[in-house]
Amino acid sequence: MTGTYPHTRLRRTRATAWSRALHRETVLTPADLIWPLFITEGVGVEQPVEALPGVSRWSVDLIVERAREAVDLGIPVLALFPHTQPERRSEDGREALNPDNLMCRAIRAVRDALGDRIGLLTDVALDPYTSHGQDGLIDEAGYVLNDKTVAALVGQAVNQANAGADIIAPSDMMDGRIGAIRDALEEGGHINVQIMSYAAKYASAFYGPFRDAVGSRGLLKGDKKTYQMDPANAEEAVREVEMDLAEGADSVMVKPGLPYLDIVRRVKETFEIPVFAYQVSGEYAMIEHAVAAGAADRDAMVLETLLAFKRAGCSGVLTYHAAHAARLLRG
Ligand code: PBG
Repeated sequence: MTGTYPHTRLRRTRATAWSRALHRETVLTPADLIWPLFITEGVGVEQPVEALPGVSRWSVDLIVERAREAVDLGIPVLALFPHTQPERRSEDGREALNPDNLMCRAIRAVRDALGDRIGLLTDVALDPYTSHGQDGLIDEAGYVLNDKTVAALVGQAVNQANAGADIIAPSDMMDGRIGAIRDALEEGGHINVQIMSYAAKYASAFYGPFRDAVGSRGLLKGDKKTYQMDPANAEEAVREVEMDLAEGADSVMVKPGLPYLDIVRRVKETFEIPVFAYQVSGEYAMIEHAVAAGAADRDAMVLETLLAFKRAGCSGVLTYHAAHAARLLRG
């Protein structure tokens, strides 16, 4: 398009609400939302997470209540994360393989109550279970060992699938884990259990509040830069996604969210596959603190940020604001 015809007025279609509705290019619905929930021990327990105002850890019985709420709101999937008791953490994170761990109990409870009326996405990585807070097994120097970790992650993924998980979401960033998990799922008869790979996951400053929520912040020594991606890199994200797709991922995730929308767009345009983004804990906290400081309107900010993910090319978004957003969208 060159030049501008003198009677072109781009404001013409924006002049009324009905016309804006007619010309809207992107829509956000509750079906675009994945609701991350933290699980804790006990019965009838709600523990507010201090670093995430408005977010709590819930005991298994109350996770089931949240699952019912999600179904009522039209949210299709929950993402579950356990807050493992310190005494169940170990150097090798073996609690991840326990068929009766908190995660598996929550999966079974939701499945028993709601059947397949809701999808369950489960995080695969050892950090909720290790005494050192790293996502994998470490050597004496604290370096996370790739291949040994992959073997443990395969066991963790199969354990979750056996309990009834629908989508396995490896968030560990080890090389080769998608193929290894896919093989094991097929062998175990879990042919329809999906894999949503955290394919482009960055070593980000935005994960702090999450580490409080799962209880690994105080434990983590050092950082995760030897496995999570450098925030400076975009081409490498394309390679990560390419590799995970070749190994059998059904969908991929970009994480964090808003600061990485360029990666979402690039991955979507390159591969034309389902792409999801995780609006992570630090992003949620930024919105909540801005609201608390009187600097922002929560409802407008939540809906605008979530719409931005859709516009960038996401099929859906993991967000701690999922229930709130779904309520707003229902009006
Ligand atoms: C751990 C994991 C993290 C998140 C999801 N899975 C934290 C990390 O990598 O340290 C972060 C989510 C958030 O910040 O909301 N494997």
